[in-house]
Amino acid sequence: MQDNAAQNNSARTIHLADYQPFTHCVDQVDLTFRLHPTATRVLAKLALSPNPARPGHQDLRLNGIDLRLISARLNGAVLDLIADETGLTVPATLLPEGPFTLETEVEIAPAQNTALEGLYMSNGLYCTQCEAEGFRKITFYPDRPDVMAPFRVRIESDLPVLLSNGNPTGGEWVDPWPKPAYLFALVAGDLIATSADFTTASGRAVKLNIWVRPGDETRTDYAMDALIRSMRWDETAYGREYDLDVFNIVAVDDFNMGAMENKGLNIFNAKYVLASPETATDDDYARIEAIIAHEYFHNWTGNRITCRDWFQLCLKEGLTVFRDQQFSGDMRSHAVKRIEDVLTLRARQFREDGGPLAHAVRPDSFVEINNFYTATVYEKGAEVIGMLKRLVGDDGYKQALDLYFDRHDGQAATIEDWLAVFADATGRDLAQFKRWYEQAGTPRVTVKEDWDGAGTFRLTLSQVNPPTPGQPVKDAKVIPVAVGLLNPNGGEVLETTVLELTNSEQVFEFNGLAARPVPSILRGFSAPVVLEHAVDPTTRAFLLAHDTDPFNKWESGRALAKEILARMVTEGAAPGADWLEAMTQVAGDDSLDPAFRALVLRLPGEDDMAQTLFAAGHVPDPAAIHAARKRLGLALAERLAPALPGLLAGTVVDGPYSPDAKAAGKRALRLALLSLQTRLDAGAAASALFAQADNMTDEGGALACLLEQGIGAEELARFEAKWHGDRLVMDKWFSLQVLHAAPEALAGVVNRLTARPDFDMKNPNRFRSVMGMLAANHAGFHHADGAGYRLLADWLIKLDPLNPQTAARMSTGFESWSRYDADRQGMIRGELARMAAAPGLSRNLGEMVGRMLG
Ligand code: PHE
Ligand code: ZN
Repeated sequence: MQDNAAQNNSARTIHLADYQPFTHCVDQVDLTFRLHPTATRVLAKLALSPNPARPGHQDLRLNGIDLRLISARLNGAVLDLIADETGLTVPATLLPEGPFTLETEVEIAPAQNTALEGLYMSNGLYCTQCEAEGFRKITFYPDRPDVMAPFRVRIESDLPVLLSNGNPTGGEWVDPWPKPAYLFALVAGDLIATSADFTTASGRAVKLNIWVRPGDETRTDYAMDALIRSMRWDETAYGREYDLDVFNIVAVDDFNMGAMENKGLNIFNAKYVLASPETATDDDYARIEAIIAHEYFHNWTGNRITCRDWFQLCLKEGLTVFRDQQFSGDMRSHAVKRIEDVLTLRARQFREDGGPLAHAVRPDSFVEINNFYTATVYEKGAEVIGMLKRLVGDDGYKQALDLYFDRHDGQAATIEDWLAVFADATGRDLAQFKRWYEQAGTPRVTVKEDWDGAGTFRLTLSQVNPPTPGQPVKDAKVIPVAVGLLNPNGGEVLETTVLELTNSEQVFEFNGLAARPVPSILRGFSAPVVLEHAVDPTTRAFLLAHDTDPFNKWESGRALAKEILARMVTEGAAPGADWLEAMTQVAGDDSLDPAFRALVLRLPGEDDMAQTLFAAGHVPDPAAIHAARKRLGLALAERLAPALPGLLAGTVVDGPYSPDAKAAGKRALRLALLSLQTRLDAGAAASALFAQADNMTDEGGALACLLEQGIGAEELARFEAKWHGDRLVMDKWFSLQVLHAAPEALAGVVNRLTARPDFDMKNPNRFRSVMGMLAANHAGFHHADGAGYRLLADWLIKLDPLNPQTAARMSTGFESWSRYDADRQGMIRGELARMAAAPGLSRNLGEMVGRMLG
């Protein structure tokens, strides 16, 4: 056994360049679990042989942490071995030349495992989380993704439901597909299944089960529906079928992440499985659909083809995010999905890329791999694949993917392998493209227009790749810039065309034009870059009205809003007339998808504005941004006032609740309008919607509108009285209050909430509901008194010994410190230093704090 301090002291940096294959191959794994809350016995029988890729007679080194070794046998003979803090070594002198069996028995204590990594207990349920390196907390094993083996698992327990990977066969779970240990899973407890039958395209019968705690089985229908649609979609879109007789999903209450793709046994944070109209919002439904799909899609992109080492994490995550985004687009609206994805990318990935935690999509070193499950690896990883597809075309992409599955099935692959299938399938040289995987930072692309008055229009595109930690100088990237040209009447004169910017500056010429065109640049957000293009407000409004590309149509409105907000903050300007007029047009335009209108009417967020102002050379003042955004919202509400009642009436959804995109879009528009109306009527309309709501979208949305205006105390109390028994709904109750607290009141709100008995810091969802929202309340978190900073640091220090993974992840609230003024910088750095000095600090939080301090 070891404590955190010892773990931290042994922290060292792992480098991609040091990769070596493992000394041995694991040919078969047999596991027996005797479950007990504080004394579970794990018997592991490993069939091993020397790895020809590592010649010579080598020691066998197995990873193992917090394991009590009971016994070890080599080919049946007792071995007298002592484990150290990170594992067990069987010296080469004891090993035979050829294959051998190693049997170990260890004892572990799942009920005491608050880190939620390895085998742990959640509300009486045994469950596991092994990615990335949790298997070493279960048994001694070469816990690395390039060691793949078939597993057989036996579980001894009185509990009614006992699950593991693969197919249930004769009292055992047998997984015929060789897999790395991070995909191992075990679940045991009192669970109820919702089941369905699925037949694959080639006729395999698959039993689908979604396992939940008794009482929750009324909330599984949507997840099952999403699973079936995902399985069908992967067959038609990628030609990939499921490959076992059963597919199990289990919902657990305590989970560090969203969900996990363990082979044949996906384990989910209950928040991303359970949904009913009364308890889940439209956004919850959409996220459930996306995450169910994501984990299912991993069966091919992650499980059948896995990662050689953890530096290659984006190989499975970037691709699987890209696939789940395609799926959600197909299920709903591609335009709306793209806008939402870009909003997330900018809010999370651009923020990360612009600060001390910036890292490449494929990093080349880390201390703690759990700190690299980031927006850069996931979301930028998906963007990079989108660019690749744009560059090689849809057919090229399809051929490359077919080749990928063909060539690498059953393997642990690398980004080099991935790029090679594209090069081989399409003949394209991807050497320059590879920089997207290796160089961190968000490129800035500048556009200059030139019209010669005689039919020729020129676009000069240039790129700058800003320095990031450890990468001071960068080379030019290949950037696909999708453009279209509109004529002055709004008609399209050039359909979407992809320009390839490969140098630091290039000129693109368009000839034979009758009049100076209006360019629409970076259509569909064709590359993850910041676009710098001086466009006057009238032209932005023109593009918002006429652009045929839905992303850029939205983007024009957004850019207009941001420019106005920026001028309100920095020059004390008034809300601009162009924008108010454009918003009025959109709000009343029934020819537009309501979901799209809702997105246009949503004001830019405060953190987004701080990011934008900082990039433009200003020091963002959080209080001024907050005040300006309020003024802008009020100005829009006042401008729309005469129309609002009619517009609101037009968004009433008839009939019983359905989570489909069309109905959800109407509700989203209604809530966007209600947020404006609430600024004018002292909450009358929002209170009315709250009182009559028959679904959580309306109920929670109306409550948010009230809280945003500093009212709604009564509704908040009613919400609590109604939902106090429901953990997931109460998470919303916690979140909303923190997110919408007035800046000066935030610390008090957080202190009141964390003092409640139902603030269980060991439950990651509850902790995030409060602490994640504390950092997300921009003006409150950055209040000049520093109380927000102190509070977050206090709680991270408290959580770290219990759950270092979640503590480390939540510390990203501090990642944007360098944007702000000297006082705030000093206070944040002070809190980071205080955390760094905390006794027994984990390797997880230690690495994060160290990188943020620089
Ligand atoms: N691999 C999981 C996913 O993206 C995420 C995860 C990572 C979950 C680590 C738990 C632990 O689907
Ligand atoms: Zn994933």
